[in-house]
Amino acid sequence: MAQQRTLGTAGPAVGPIGLGCMGMNWVYTSQLQSAEESIGAIRHAVDHGITLLDTADLYGPFTNEELLGEALRGGLRERVVLATKGGLKAGPESRLGSVQVAADGRPEHLRAAVEGSLRRLGTDRIDLYYLHRVDPRVPLAESWGALAELQQAGKIVQLGLSEVSAAQLEEAHAIAPVGAVQSELSVWSRDPLAEVLPWCVAHGAAFVPFSPLGRGFLAGRFDGENAPDQDDFRARLPRFQEEARAQNLRIADGIREIATRHGATPAQVALAWTLAQGEHVVPIPGSTRRIHIEQNAAAAEVQLSNADLAALDSLPAPVGTRY
Ligand SMILES: NC(=O)c1ccc[n+]([C@@H]2O[C@H](COP(=O)([O-])OP(=O)(O)OC[C@H]3O[C@@H](n4cnc5c(N)ncnc54)[C@H](OP(=O)(O)O)[C@@H]3O)[C@@H](O)[C@H]2O)c1
Repeated sequence: MAQQRTLGTAGPAVGPIGLGCMGMNWVYTSQLQSAEESIGAIRHAVDHGITLLDTADLYGPFTNEELLGEALRGGLRERVVLATKGGLKAGPESRLGSVQVAADGRPEHLRAAVEGSLRRLGTDRIDLYYLHRVDPRVPLAESWGALAELQQAGKIVQLGLSEVSAAQLEEAHAIAPVGAVQSELSVWSRDPLAEVLPWCVAHGAAFVPFSPLGRGFLAGRFDGENAPDQDDFRARLPRFQEEARAQNLRIADGIREIATRHGATPAQVALAWTLAQGEHVVPIPGSTRRIHIEQNAAAAEVQLSNADLAALDSLPAPVGTRY
């Protein structure tokens, strides 16, 4: 992966495609594999120029950070940009694929969460720390102010937020600079294009699309026949219900058609579409398989024409909400 992108104007250079580690041991039960295989996959990603690695204390909970920490032992830590998140907790009823979450943005929780993440990741600093969700019961200024103090103390390099509005970004940025915003963005989830992406350009922040492959659907992993396993988190999402899947195939088929013309995979086209939304965009596709990781790393080489982009932009709206 020759080209690099900058993670916000004040941030480090990273490969244009990152790696989301969530599905390696959390929520996506259809693709679970051993810890050894996941560790191998993470190292394989770094060998292929993928440097932005994404996790959260929620995932597992906690075991996803441990997995990543283990993968980075032995010198790899200094070759990557390590991103994690805090401020969302798994409820007591959560199981692997069936997750209950609650926001906790209290400063005391965030201070303890950062210490826990540092320990599990085996590092003395987190390169990018996101507030996973704004806690409606805690003023954003309090949560963000606590994170800004941890940044001043050198425990966090850049600060970010996930799934926020432009108004919330303004509020946070007035207290301490927003380095990155992570929200869902893909061919079938475009809400951030209206205000949040332009806000990021105007304020020198990176935009990090999560679920850029539509949780696998846009990569052609599911169709009318192939559903996620019963206990997979996706089995409960509206867009993955049988009837919705059948209708949403029009979107996956449209992506596949363009991919075929480029001699590329549908996942590569879906990722190239996110990259085309701006130089400040660095998607983090989730993958457990080396072959997919290699293909995704090469997505930045797929050059979509204006006609391709127009065709992708005019695909039908999805049937079903995101959650
Ligand atoms: N901030 C938030 O609230 C939030 C929410 C959700 C996710 N995230 C982050 O975003 C990351 C990515 O999102 P995601 O994992 O939900 O969804 P995603 O990246 O849209 O899709 C992941 C799915 O796509 C499949 N896939 C990946 N590359 C492929 C390829 N080249 N060909 C075919 N299939 C491919 C994966 O299966 P294989 O394993 O078989 O490759 C997996 O099933 C997560 O890991 C997490 O770090 C953040």
